[in-house]
Amino acid sequence: MLSREQTFHVRPGGAVTGQVRVPGDKSISHRSIMLGAIADGVTEISGFLEGADCLATLQSMQEMGVKIDVLGHGHIRVNGVGLHGLKTPVDPLDFGNSGTAMRLMTGLLAGQEFNAILKGDQSLSNRPMGRIIEPLVQMGATIEAAENNRPPLHIRGGNPLTGICYEMKVASAQVKSALLLAGLYASGETCVIEPAPTRDHTERMLAGFGYPIQRNDNRICLQGGGRLKATRVEVPADISSAAFFIVAATLMPGSELLLEHVGVNPTRTGVIDILRLMGANIDIFNQSEVGGELVADLRVRHAALHGIDIPEALVPLAIDEFPVIFIAAANASGTTRLTGASELRVKESDRIKVMADGLLACGIQAQATPDGIIIQGKPGQVQGARIDSQGDHRIAMAFAVAGQCASSPMLIDNCANVATSFPGFAALAKHVGLDIEINPSC
Ligand code: S3P
Repeated sequence: MLSREQTFHVRPGGAVTGQVRVPGDKSISHRSIMLGAIADGVTEISGFLEGADCLATLQSMQEMGVKIDVLGHGHIRVNGVGLHGLKTPVDPLDFGNSGTAMRLMTGLLAGQEFNAILKGDQSLSNRPMGRIIEPLVQMGATIEAAENNRPPLHIRGGNPLTGICYEMKVASAQVKSALLLAGLYASGETCVIEPAPTRDHTERMLAGFGYPIQRNDNRICLQGGGRLKATRVEVPADISSAAFFIVAATLMPGSELLLEHVGVNPTRTGVIDILRLMGANIDIFNQSEVGGELVADLRVRHAALHGIDIPEALVPLAIDEFPVIFIAAANASGTTRLTGASELRVKESDRIKVMADGLLACGIQAQATPDGIIIQGKPGQVQGARIDSQGDHRIAMAFAVAGQCASSPMLIDNCANVATSFPGFAALAKHVGLDIEINPSC
């Protein structure tokens, strides 16, 4: 899907300034297409993230007979087919690099009348799917996977599902969401118990589509067999994308950056909490609620950071932001320790290993542990290096931020997948003051 490889070249630079709106939230964009497709009526989406991951979800729904109009500038019109209106896909559904698309769609397709095959790129083909297969099979689904429960997944249709009460072993919003989506097609009640709070966009959006859903403490339940009513979805800017610029502005002296209309759902703001514990200066203002999601503007000013022990309770709430948090830690005074984050090893890459290797290449003492990392930070110590992002979008962007505050140029290879979550990253980064070029000729 994303064939042309890219190398980012970042020269050390100065202050990060200006006012920007980063692209739409990836998690919310995926869900808007999925729920819009199985709703009754026409759902209008604005602020949709037109990145490769969410476009893969969109295309998969088109391949199952849903008419979706891409109207430009993040405006999408989904002509919902109702809960039972999806058609048999002719070819395998290709989810590219996206774990969210594959896991949520497996839940959504587990209770259909038809067969489906779900596949992905090399990274996705190595990601664990047992965590969704096991509970979905308990509900009555038939799903075959490749060795070790890896994709591709073959879902055999026509198996009636029955609701279960499932206690998740990992704090995963993807698992929770897959089960709730399967629960729409199950008889009786489906309940998911979370070991720790995880992003709750599925629950909020189901409620927005008029579907009754209950949360009691850490237990989320719904009854199968209801209907979803089309609605409007306004997707806020993605805090996970904003995080790169939050860290860049924090690290660079003289910076003052305004990030507009960022999603600040409390299950996503762990990155702000962690950076504030380290000493960051981040104001949240103009807060409002849009379609069940909190949004706000963020003002970030330069601040000196210090190392911390990252509270484990914040880990699921900042799970995608750790690559750039590690860059902040490398520039903080003292030691930062992360524990309880073994999930980072099964993301788009093994983010603990790939980040530790990259930090070491930049002259930072970083020690990977089975479930985290220990980083010895010091302001101004990052040296330029040539980094292999291993095709992981967030690692590529994290090292672009590192390049801004490094003592010499940073080259980052394998960056094409940045377009999965943040199309236009380099242009926007340049706009706020990063000295970044793609594939420079020299
Ligand atoms: C996501 C949940 C998270 C996150 C991923 C998006 C979602 O994964 O890492 O990028 O949209 O539900 P887990 O829930 O598996 O931790």
